[in-house]
Amino acid sequence: MSEQQIEVGGVDPYKIVVGRSLLDSVVKEVSTKSTKVLIVHQIALTASAEVLREALVSAGFEAILAGVPDGEDSKRIEVASWCWQLLGQSDFTRTDTVIGFGGGAATDLAGFVAATWLRGVPVIHVPTTLLGMVDASIGGKTGINTTEGKNLVGSFYAPQAVFCDLDTLKTLPRNELLAGFGEVVKYGFISEPRILDLIEHDPATATDVDSDVFFEIISRCIEIKARVVSSDFKEAGLREILNYGHTLGHAIELAERFTWRHGAAISVGMVFVAELARLNGRLSESVVARHRSVLGSLGLPITYRADKWDQLLASMQRDKKSRGGNLRFVVLDDIGKPTIMTAPTSEMLFAAFQEIVD
Ligand code: GLY
Repeated sequence: MSEQQIEVGGVDPYKIVVGRSLLDSVVKEVSTKSTKVLIVHQIALTASAEVLREALVSAGFEAILAGVPDGEDSKRIEVASWCWQLLGQSDFTRTDTVIGFGGGAATDLAGFVAATWLRGVPVIHVPTTLLGMVDASIGGKTGINTTEGKNLVGSFYAPQAVFCDLDTLKTLPRNELLAGFGEVVKYGFISEPRILDLIEHDPATATDVDSDVFFEIISRCIEIKARVVSSDFKEAGLREILNYGHTLGHAIELAERFTWRHGAAISVGMVFVAELARLNGRLSESVVARHRSVLGSLGLPITYRADKWDQLLASMQRDKKSRGGNLRFVVLDDIGKPTIMTAPTSEMLFAAFQEIVD
């Protein structure tokens, strides 16, 4: 299969194209009403951003590169402000276009810059990491961090289109690709066991970016995310299921000072909530065991340090406060049957944690 188009519905519908060698398609997507294009890209991707810039120039656009730091370092007000400066200096109008090119942080920043410039200009996302493709670039969450926390400033702002060019994953370090599979496995458990079947059947082929199986798995993940955000753009309900494994996962990321990859942290988080659901009599032992076997087959962590519990609980409680409610966990009644567990006792949480300690 060489290309698939997935539609996101809602107030501002858009398409997600999954395929290979999509450079020409990205250029064709830029509206002919635009004269200028700002490519917000990770500095590490300057060479490929330059290829995109030249293709846009050949198509008659005035294209400018905005190289931003890798990862969360780009999601700062100073970096957004520098992008606004570039837009101002180039007389960027409301019909001109921003392209977000890179991992989830780069597309979050590009979306934020586009959402705020002249109260909103079109943005096209070209994610280049697995995490960016199956999660961050879809659903219109844009934002920057403040010293008080991640993503505290931002908006929901739908892109014009998203292009997931699987060829860009060929240069991704293997451990980063595998960590991205934490999110992939999440979609398998919350919605589609076929994803788990494909990984279990042959993990090597499932994680080979050139394989048709990889293409199928990624397309299925994107379809699920597209379905969820189509019906709940602003996270009023259903969208919360995408946070499966994330409550403890975020606490682990914080405890590890963001030296753990997101997918690795939520891998542990998923085993934790699976145990929580089992202890609550919701989930069978075999589904919990399946969490361990599928995540373990990808080399993802499934246990965590016993001495960190108090710190993890405290940061989950803080996170709860910032969302103004009870501690909530997405848990499963079965594969494909996510539900919310509200305010489990600390004894119950501790018991679940005991099941996942090293
Ligand atoms: N990353 C979760 C969401 O987009 O809602």
